[in-house]
Amino acid sequence: MLGAAAERHRSGRASQALVPTMGALHSGHAALVDAARGANDVVVVSIFVNPLQFGEAADLQRYPRTLEADLDLLASAGADIVFAPAVQEVYPDGEPLVRISAGRLGETLEGASRPGHFDGALTVVAKLLHYALPALPADFRAYFGQKDAQQLALVRRMVADLDFPVEIVGVPIVRDADGLALSSRNRFLSPAEREAALVLSRSLHYLKGQADRHEPLDLNGALAMIGSVPLVELDYLEVVDPASLAPLAFNCQDTPFTGEALALAAARVGPVRLIDNVRLGAG
Ligand code: PAJ
Repeated sequence: MLGAAAERHRSGRASQALVPTMGALHSGHAALVDAARGANDVVVVSIFVNPLQFGEAADLQRYPRTLEADLDLLASAGADIVFAPAVQEVYPDGEPLVRISAGRLGETLEGASRPGHFDGALTVVAKLLHYALPALPADFRAYFGQKDAQQLALVRRMVADLDFPVEIVGVPIVRDADGLALSSRNRFLSPAEREAALVLSRSLHYLKGQADRHEPLDLNGALAMIGSVPLVELDYLEVVDPASLAPLAFNCQDTPFTGEALALAAARVGPVRLIDNVRLGAG
């Protein structure tokens, strides 16, 4: 039924995009819609808070749901179709028996703290891609934020490993003026916690400065910056290969930085878990 609606919009035009979201939309999501709008004839945005990718029931329950405001934002961003299915529509028989496995890459970094999270996210992304697949031949693209770098890497792997007929496009992180990466969960931060959370982007950009100057990366210095902020409980700070997310050798400090890498961090700040990352040595 989504396919037919998209087809009516497309009426023979040549490209179609999907932007999967969980709603509570902000300018980070809008950047994905903008990128999709700029390169495709039809833009479908999905809003679905996917129970399969949440660990604690409490986190699922309190996930912000702001459908009216989301629809306004999507209307001004120029989305053609908003697909906001009920849970029963996506999972009519309850939790699916058969699902996508993220494999080893789903068990590191975010996956280490959130078992099953990426299996759940990939399973719903696979379903959403199927719903939004153009019925007639057309270029099909799906847009994901670099904010969720591990998710983006895993979606790329799923599409490559399982031959999904879709091009995955990564969109740069949108930040507030002070550097905090936009997230639907930022609204749960108190002013003091929000201020404290800035140390994540600051420490990552500290490493980026060294990478830009081809100096050795001072990981200990970055860790000490984060350690000095009591409200921030660091989960990990790692420098990895951008495609495989495998840890890189210059984790060991003395080698001047060359090449490309991704510095990733995750921390609990008050009631929320925040993630952030920066590309090192790119551009
Ligand atoms: P959600 O957290 O709503 O994010 C939807 C998309 O917006 C993701 O691709 C995410 O990386 C991107 N995004 C979020 N904040 C961003 C920012 N500050 N800058 C750039 N992009 C940003 O990610 C999910 O939903 C779900 O896991 C989903 C893919 C929809 C599957 O359920």
